[in-house]
Amino acid sequence: MSITIRFNVNGAEATVTTDPERRLLDVLREDLQLTGTKYGCGEGQCGACLVHLDGEPTRSCLVPVRDAEGTSVTTIEGLARGDTLHAVQEAFIEEGAMQCGYCTSGMILAAVALLRRTPDPTHEQIVSGMDGHLCRCNGYVKIVNAVRRAAETIQGASHA
Ligand code: FES
Ligand code: FES
Repeated sequence: MSITIRFNVNGAEATVTTDPERRLLDVLREDLQLTGTKYGCGEGQCGACLVHLDGEPTRSCLVPVRDAEGTSVTTIEGLARGDTLHAVQEAFIEEGAMQCGYCTSGMILAAVALLRRTPDPTHEQIVSGMDGHLCRCNGYVKIVNAVRRAAETIQGASHA
């Protein structure tokens, strides 16, 4: 049975008619062609599929698309403003905090959520805030450095 589901994705209205039990992850990737959101484990363990759902970091492999009805979803494709990357995206580039990039969109969206909650995190808060995000390329030191750099950039901009 298909139903029609309406939600906002990256600032635009989206309408999909589909099996309501399909994963939000699959609808984003297959129906809306937002392939920056990655399929890793499919079980909530790796963080590759993380999006923001009504501003909350959410593992989209665990969400049936029916639960997205009426919500606002942000994926990595919706983070930049025009040609201007988000400070976290810039920091990941500056620190070289990616190798294959498979974990990167989830990492960046997790870091954005972390810095909204905790604008000036300690090293320990960054590590625990990124806990549960797996990088098989083992780039964790650079990832933590990137989150720290982004925090400083955002703090600097807010005090400018
Ligand atoms: S694919 Fe969703 S947490 Fe791994
Ligand atoms: S950069 Fe390859 S999995 Fe993280």
